[in-house]
Amino acid sequence: MSERKIAVVDPAERDRQKLIMQRIKENNDIDYQRIGKNKLFHILTFGCQQNSSDSEKLKGMLAHMGYDETAKKADADVVIINTCCVRENAELKLYGNIGALKQLKADKPGMIIAVCGCMMEQEHAVNAIKKKYKHVDLVFGTHNLYKFPELLERSMNEQYTLIDIMNTDGIIVEDIPVKRDEKHKAWVTIMYGCNNFCSYCIVPYVRGRERSRNPEDVLKEIEALAADGCKEVTLLGQNVNSYGKDLEADIDFADLIKLVNNIEGIERIRFMTSHPKDISDKLIDTMKECKKVCEQLHLPFQAGSNRILNAMNRKYTKEEYLAKIERVKKTIPGIALSTDVIVGFPSETDEDFNETLEIIREVEFDQAFMFIYSKRQGTPAAEMTEQVEEDHKHKNFERLVALQNDVSRKINDDYSGKLVEVLVDGPSKKDKTKYTGRTRTGKVVNFIASKDIYGEDDLTGQLVDVRINEVHSWFLNGEMITN
Ligand code: SAH
Ligand code: SF4
Ligand code: F3S
Repeated sequence: MSERKIAVVDPAERDRQKLIMQRIKENNDIDYQRIGKNKLFHILTFGCQQNSSDSEKLKGMLAHMGYDETAKKADADVVIINTCCVRENAELKLYGNIGALKQLKADKPGMIIAVCGCMMEQEHAVNAIKKKYKHVDLVFGTHNLYKFPELLERSMNEQYTLIDIMNTDGIIVEDIPVKRDEKHKAWVTIMYGCNNFCSYCIVPYVRGRERSRNPEDVLKEIEALAADGCKEVTLLGQNVNSYGKDLEADIDFADLIKLVNNIEGIERIRFMTSHPKDISDKLIDTMKECKKVCEQLHLPFQAGSNRILNAMNRKYTKEEYLAKIERVKKTIPGIALSTDVIVGFPSETDEDFNETLEIIREVEFDQAFMFIYSKRQGTPAAEMTEQVEEDHKHKNFERLVALQNDVSRKINDDYSGKLVEVLVDGPSKKDKTKYTGRTRTGKVVNFIASKDIYGEDDLTGQLVDVRINEVHSWFLNGEMITN
């Protein structure tokens, strides 16, 4: 029997928040008449794409309420810190940031300071704020983000820190306004939560169980994005391969991709993250069949030793992982692979670690996100007795990084002289005479575009052809050409 629960989409809650947004907007409009400018907000986002996507919703709601974004905290009327707790250093950083806001608020007493996100689902973190950082006005979690307008309104009238953390994760609220920084590409959350409980990971505790959005809602969002000029979508979830398992409709992730592939205007589809135990042959074949799906796959292996994989509760062996990779490479030649790796999981020996290095050598990932194991309160791995010495973890980490740098560089060498399709992100921040964008394989490309070719048009959001003439480990340089 499946214990999965079906998330309820709640339109009544959406309507309630809409009314409150309207009310705040009317008040802000009155202030606008008086002072001649909109109120301002500033959001600081930590963590993964899931949090970035949540921040885009907070920005959307704030814009709806008549606030403009500012890059300067000191000027903001509302400052939000969206937290992550996947590793310990994130926590230390947060307290530094909250502390720094104290003086700003003293200088601007009307300022509202809110702290939200994954870390606020942890009781000890909320208690620390309650006790030490009384200048925080509002604390909320990941499950009640949709309630932000109501919480903001209440906190404006509250003397004390308003804390609203919901422990249940049952409802999905659709149609929250979203403000994305870029028009040509977008993250689209297709599911929330995680059921995997890898023994080192805090995410299932702070994001709740897996809940899929209805396919109609996902497609409606992407159609609207396409109509607005969006060319690339990245479908987001902690384990996208589980998409649909909790829905009444008979649909899986590969089926969803096929539907997205049919949306006119969308040119590129990416997704993350895939769990190696769940990636299916059907999905790999779908990636090949659907021309808009980019030749790129993020497939975290975490560790090379089967003993460590077992202790991590990853539910696959090194051999099974490598077999999936082989299947992917065979089906989609030239695919760019990326991964996540943890160094120094409890009881990891040098022999175990060497198996991690072996996978890095054998697979040849384009990119690896490498992490030193960090103990997370409440996870099974934190209770394991054989924790690895800090020094040793760092030494092995350096070895891993050096090896991966060599691999990335070697892979990029093959791009030399090649013609690639680039979706232009905009003018390069470092060198204004160049544009920057990404290939279908996810490589950053900086390129010169002669005005003789494209005139005075802004190329941002366009697909252009670039000849690569210089390669580095983390980016490529080239020149735009015409066909
Ligand atoms: N759902 C995704 C990503 C989860 S968090 C997945 O399963 O791949 C992103 C990465 O952070 C993980 O893949 C893992 O490599 C790393 N990570 C998670 N918990 C960690 C911990 N306690 N210490 C170090 N790295 C961790
Ligand atoms: Fe964490 Fe594992 Fe879930 Fe990824 S799959 S979020 S690593 S528990
Ligand atoms: Fe961090 Fe939460 Fe993502 S803990 S990694 S922001 S899901």
